Formats: sequence, structure tokens, C-alpha cells
Amino acid sequence: MADSGIKLLETENLTKRFGGLTAIDDLSLSIQEGEIRGIIGPNGSGKTTLMNLISGLYKATSGAIYLDGNRIDQLKPNVRTSKGIIRTFQIPKVFRDMTVLENMLVPALSDSQGDRYKQRVEIVDQAQELLQFVQLSHMENRSAKTLSGGQNQLLQIARGFMIKPLRIYLMDEPFAGVNPQIKSVIMESIKEMNREKGITFIVVSHEMPSIRRLCDTVTVIHEGRCIAEGTLEKVAHVPAVIDAYIGG
Ligand SMILES: Nc1ncnc2c1ncn2[C@@H]1O[C@H](COP(=O)(O)OP(=O)(O)OP(=O)(O)O)[C@@H](O)[C@H]1O
Ligand SMILES: [Mg+2]
Repeated sequence: MADSGIKLLETENLTKRFGGLTAIDDLSLSIQEGEIRGIIGPNGSGKTTLMNLISGLYKATSGAIYLDGNRIDQLKPNVRTSKGIIRTFQIPKVFRDMTVLENMLVPALSDSQGDRYKQRVEIVDQAQELLQFVQLSHMENRSAKTLSGGQNQLLQIARGFMIKPLRIYLMDEPFAGVNPQIKSVIMESIKEMNREKGITFIVVSHEMPSIRRLCDTVTVIHEGRCIAEGTLEKVAHVPAVIDAYIGG
């Protein structure tokens, strides 16, 4: 999807310290509506911390985060979710003793105001449609603990799509430990949701081929700072990026 030029999400001089360690260091980023932004960087460079700061799991030490120009860094995670900021975790968090379909219903039912029958039928329909979308329909009534790692990733991704409004979807290592077939389902889901629904994505990944296929712009993080930004082709030739990867 082409950039509309509107800044959807911004971080301004964002800093997160853990004791003496600065995990995110004065980071100012700008994500436009409709982007699929890649975030790359060596292990321990601060990528997950950044996702935790944007989603509200961590509180920033200093700096600000804006959604549509409004500060959100003081808001609780559930309030940020209600504003359309959804995330997945590096290690999938699903309810192991619930079925795949039940897992899908958790965000929608906990958010739903009435418990009217019609509303529930619609939610279940939507969950089944999304399970089909990510090719998990055949697992619908199986317990989530029977899923493979890749299927777990698919389930947590599909479950995020249940939340409305969905403005910006943060994905932390969606391709890690995932087989090529599921990888391509994830990739196609991201592309289609971006194209059809205008959802903005921030994808953290070490998988350069996937990042290359998905993202026009990549931000490289090293020691909590942005050391390069641009196409993957371009940033791959930046000396500081080469140093960061080789040094790491
Ligand atoms: N809750 C925490 N308490 C203390 N230190 C933390 C915490 N979370 C992260 N860190 C530290 O902050 C730094 C950045 O970690 P982070 O998990 O954000 O890196 P990452 O880029 O996601 O790495 P990876 O590619 O391995 O997933 C690391 O040095 C890490 O040890
Ligand atoms: Mg991480």
C-alpha cells in the first residue's frame, strides 16, 4: 500500500533504562499510516523493548510516544489496545487448555459490551473466517497445546486480527522457528491485511528474506539507537550496520 504521508505512530527521544543498562536510547522514530515497517538489529539491540514500550508493557524512562499526534505513553496497555495498537509476542502466548477457536474468541468476548446472541454468532463467524484465512480451520476444535510452534504463531496473529479497531499491528519475530509454508501464510496475511484493510505493521525479524519481501522501509536498531533507515538494500551497505552485525 502506498504511503499516505500521515504519521500514525511516533516516538520522540524515547529512552528505557534497566538499572545501568540503556536498552532504548533517545530513539525518535516515525511510522506512516499504511506502512509495513521492518525493525532489524543484532540480538539484544532493543527491538523487543521497543515493542514493549509502544504496546505499554513497559513504561518509558523518558521521552514520548504519539498515536495520531496524541501522547499515548502514559496509557495502560489495554487502553492502547482499544486505540488499535495490537501486538504478538516473540514467544507465543496462547491459552493452552482452550481450543483454537476459543482462543480466537478471548479478545472479542472480553471486549464485548452486551452478550447478545447475535453478537456472539457474528464473533464466532469472524473467528472461523480468520482461522480459514491463516489456514488453521482444520485445528479449530483442537486444544491449543497440540499446535506446533508455527501454528501457535498463526493463532496469535489471527487472534490479533479479531480486535477492532486495528490500526497498528506489532509483530515480534513472527517467523522465528516457523516452517516455510507457515512463513508464507504469515507473510501473505500481513500483505493482504495491509492492502485490503489499510492496517499498518511493525515487524521485528532476523529473517532478512522475509523483511525484504514485506517492507519498503527498514529501521536498524543497535544498542537502543537507530543506526540506519531505508530500504533493506540500502541499509545493508551502511558501514555502521555492517559493524553492528559483525561486532555482535
Ligand atoms: N525486563 C528487563 N530487565 C532487564 N533488562 C532487560 C529487560 N528486557 C530487556 N533487557 C535488556 O535490554 C537489552 C535489549 O533487549 P531486547 O530484548 O529488547 O533485545 P532484542 O533486540 O529484542 O534481542 P533479540 O534479537 O535477541 O530478541 C538487552 O541487553 C536485554 O538484556
Ligand atoms: Mg527480541
